[in-house]
Formats: sequence, structure tokens, C-alpha cells
Amino acid sequence: MGDADSSTDAESSRAGSGESSDPVSEAIAVVARSAPEIRGGLAGRRRKTDAENASGEVQMAADVWADELLESRLTAIDGVGQFASEEREDVVDAGEGEYAVTVDPLDGSSNLKSNNSMGTVLGVYDADLPARGRDLVAAAYVLFGPITTMVVARDGEVTEYVVESKNGEFAERRAVREDVTLPDDPVVYGFGGRVPDWTDRFADYAREIEDELKLRYGGAMIGDVNQVLTYGGVFAYPELDSRPEGKLRLQFEANPIAFVVEAAGGASSNGTESLLAAEPEGVHQRTPMYVGNEELIERLEAQF
Ligand code: F6P
Ligand code: MN
Repeated sequence: MGDADSSTDAESSRAGSGESSDPVSEAIAVVARSAPEIRGGLAGRRRKTDAENASGEVQMAADVWADELLESRLTAIDGVGQFASEEREDVVDAGEGEYAVTVDPLDGSSNLKSNNSMGTVLGVYDADLPARGRDLVAAAYVLFGPITTMVVARDGEVTEYVVESKNGEFAERRAVREDVTLPDDPVVYGFGGRVPDWTDRFADYAREIEDELKLRYGGAMIGDVNQVLTYGGVFAYPELDSRPEGKLRLQFEANPIAFVVEAAGGASSNGTESLLAAEPEGVHQRTPMYVGNEELIERLEAQF
């Protein structure tokens, strides 16, 4: 594994320059190319709209805008047959094509108001939606932090890139960490949901973890998962007493992130099995989500 602060030029490419030869690479490149543009468009779009998404969450202007931008670009790729987004009710028919692409256009967009981290999540499934995580052929996420990074999982390998816009003209994606794996000794944890709403069995697990690891929680799944990928540990948006199905969406959030974490040598769970094995029931279905070092996820499943 390389050093996150030094760059290698092994995978340097002009993101989305049209050099990519297959629909999967093209989808990844489109998200990379769009990232600096999305970032640049956030400042004027921090207000709430009057609309709700399919999960009943109030949409920010930025959510709607990023969704439309990604929809038009991803459905234009030859070989993409379906497009679905957390921010729209229905699956978009993109014509003939083997692949279905999902996005969470702006994960953690409530962090816009307080100017904290957020991201974009991409899943590329080789099956019609709703699909199992095992049908993913690639997954990626962009993290809008102090710098824009992108983590891509494909063919069992995870790579972290820095994405930059040169002269505002094109986005350059530069690999900074190859063969990313979770560190063996876990350091951080981040758990969502209100503590009094946690189920007893999750609260018991959390008490143990709190004794062992440091809290890192920023309220955007992507930012919190990237802490775990960087330092090792566990991220959870757990089952709740008021909502046994948790908050996060299987197709747009949990599956792609589980695919990344498992490709990086970690594990994922919905409480009983790998998220990637879960049978999907609907496009906007929610799931409890637990990802991190294998030993920590095994302990959770053993206690549940
Ligand atoms: O997309 C949903 C999301 O914003 C995640 O990014 C994040 O993990 C979670 O919701 C935060 O929810 P809460 O505000 O309930 O902790
Ligand atoms: Mn989200």
C-alpha cells in the first residue's frame, strides 16, 4: 500500500476523458469528472427545497441538482440500461444495456448547512434493480473533504484517488493509494442513530467498542466510512427500536460501501449476514448497516 500523502502516477488519467473502453470504467470516470463540478456548485445550493425524496427526506437544492447532473451523464453511457438514485422515486430506463447504475448523489447533504464532509456514492450492478450486492461489478465514492478524493473498488482491488480540476477545464484523477486495505489494528468507530433509540443488543455491542476504540463521527456515512477505511475500525447505522430496518438504503448506500469495504479486506453485515448476500425487496429499501474490520463484524453477528 502506498502513502496517502504521496502520489504515484501509475493510474493517472484524465477522468472521463473518453479513453475508458467499457461501460463500468466509463461510469466511474463520469463520476470522477463530475466531482469537481459538483463541489463547485454546492455553495449556492445549501437551501432546502419544498420537496421530499423517496425516503421522505427533505431535499436540498444541491441534492436535486447533483441528481439531475449525474442522471443525464450516466444514462448517456452505452451499456448502461438502468439508472436509479436515492433522490428519485423510479428507476430510469436508459435503453439497451447490461449494467444498472445507482447513485446517492450527495450523501450526508444535511452537512451542507454546517459545512462538513459529504460525498457521492456509485454502484454498478450487472443485474436489473433491485439487485443483490453480489451483483455489483464496481463501486466507488467521492469524498468532499478538505480535498476531493475518490475510492474505487473493482476486481477485488481498492484504489484511492485525488480528483482535481485543472484550469477548471477537466478533472484529473491521480492514484494516491493502491491496494487499499483496512489496517489490522482497528482504531476508530462511528455509530449513527440516537443512543436511547438503539436496541439493547446493539447498545451492549457499542459499550464494548467504546471501551476499545476512539469515536469518529461526522454524520455523513461517506466521511465516517472513510475514517474506518483509513484507520481501521467499525461504522454502523444500526437497527433502532423505532426503526428496525435502520436508515441507510441497501441499493444506493449499503451495498456499494459493503463492496468497497469487503474488497479492502473488511467485512459487512446487516446483523445476520453480509450485506452483499441480502436479498433486495425494493429499490428504496433500508437496511441496518455494519462495516469494518472482520473481527469486529464477527463479534457483532455473534452477539446478535
Ligand atoms: O444519507 C443518510 C445520512 O445522511 C448518512 O450519510 C448518515 O450516516 C446518516 O444519514 C446520518 O443520520 P443521522 O443524522 O440520523 O445520524
Ligand atoms: Mn446518503
